[in-house]
Amino acid sequence: MSKILVTGGAGYIGSHTAVELLNNGEELVIVDNFSNSSPNVLEKIKKITNKDFKFYEVDLLDEQNLEKVFKENNIEAVIHFAGLKAVGESVIKPIEYYHNNITGTLILLNLMRKYNCKKIVFSSSATVYGNPKELPIKEDFPLSTTNPYGSTKLMIEQILQDVAVADKDFRVVLLRYFNPIGAHESGLIGEVPNGIPNNVMPYIIGVAAGKYEELTVFGNDYPTKDGTGVRDYIHVVDLSLGHLKALEKIRNEAGVKIYNLGTGNGYSVLELIKTFEKVNNVKVKYKIGPRRKGDIPACYADASKAEKELGWKATRGIEEMCRDGWNFAINNK
Ligand code: NAD
Ligand code: UFG
Repeated sequence: MSKILVTGGAGYIGSHTAVELLNNGEELVIVDNFSNSSPNVLEKIKKITNKDFKFYEVDLLDEQNLEKVFKENNIEAVIHFAGLKAVGESVIKPIEYYHNNITGTLILLNLMRKYNCKKIVFSSSATVYGNPKELPIKEDFPLSTTNPYGSTKLMIEQILQDVAVADKDFRVVLLRYFNPIGAHESGLIGEVPNGIPNNVMPYIIGVAAGKYEELTVFGNDYPTKDGTGVRDYIHVVDLSLGHLKALEKIRNEAGVKIYNLGTGNGYSVLELIKTFEKVNNVKVKYKIGPRRKGDIPACYADASKAEKELGWKATRGIEEMCRDGWNFAINNK
């Protein structure tokens, strides 16, 4: 039977998507090098779903070993999560980011061509919109990036589109994620930040858990509802379900498709803190600090294209995101 290859399937979004794919009856092969995840996630995926899958500990840069995955399995489609994702780190280590994300993708594409696998769903990011002139953000807005991480996303989008021009049978879905937070309701899998978190939700959780003294809110003088940054937070399970819809699309239609995966709602940092406190009955100490370099005031999706063409819509609200994120944290101290 043909299988879906999930690269980076031990990671945050990949593990949640693996659960939904397995629950939906798909056969999976997961590839990960554990550079930002750990092997025990694989057991958790099995525990949640009561289903098995194949796993290869392989680096995408290791073409020889990656080839074994294609040789030993009939891969129908690839869902490509594997990549390095820390914006700040990418500024310090651009060569590592370009090499891992871009070379890794090129090696993957080369093997897909060799083994006649012509479907890919790629994890892109709202970061490719740069600082949008208008809100909500639509898929046809101008694209630009401000850091090497974002540039890898935009370049990979371009590479995939070029491959689809060269081979009319090659099918691509580019999913531009907004801000994924939350965790699986079982509390077994979730986001495990490596070191001090850069993102707001893992930091809020760290403060609530007593790991960090207080959150610094990066600026309260933005032209937003309360002056703090506004983002489109999306529950990771909703995001994962979007990949099932993308897979369905790619099975039925040729070409390149691009979708925003967001809720369409923007929440400020202060609203996020207040909701987290209320839902979980905990205190999150914070102070107002200066703006963070490179941040934009507000970012939220027009998610109507995904609704219309994929039949996908986020259904979990900000309360559930806060509850499930905290539930995972207290289960995995
Ligand atoms: P993650 O770091 O939790 O997962 C990525 C996984 O890929 C990790 O398990 C890591 O070990 C693996 N990996 C990295 N390089 C690899 C390589 N060369 N070979 C094999 N495995 C490798 O990140 P995530 O939050 O789950 O993000 C998944 C994807 O979604 C990434 O491509 C990321 O850039 C993109 N994305 C994430 C966000 C977000 O806020 N989390 C937003 C937009 C886009
Ligand atoms: N923030 C704080 N304090 C913190 C961390 C963040 O106030 O300690 C604020 C930020 O200023 C911003 C909001 O919280 O207003 C969200 O910040 P995150 O770092 O959580 O998320 P970003 O929107 O900055 O970045 C995320 C991903 C990137 C991706 C980008 C665009 O981390 O990978 O969305 O999609 F590129």
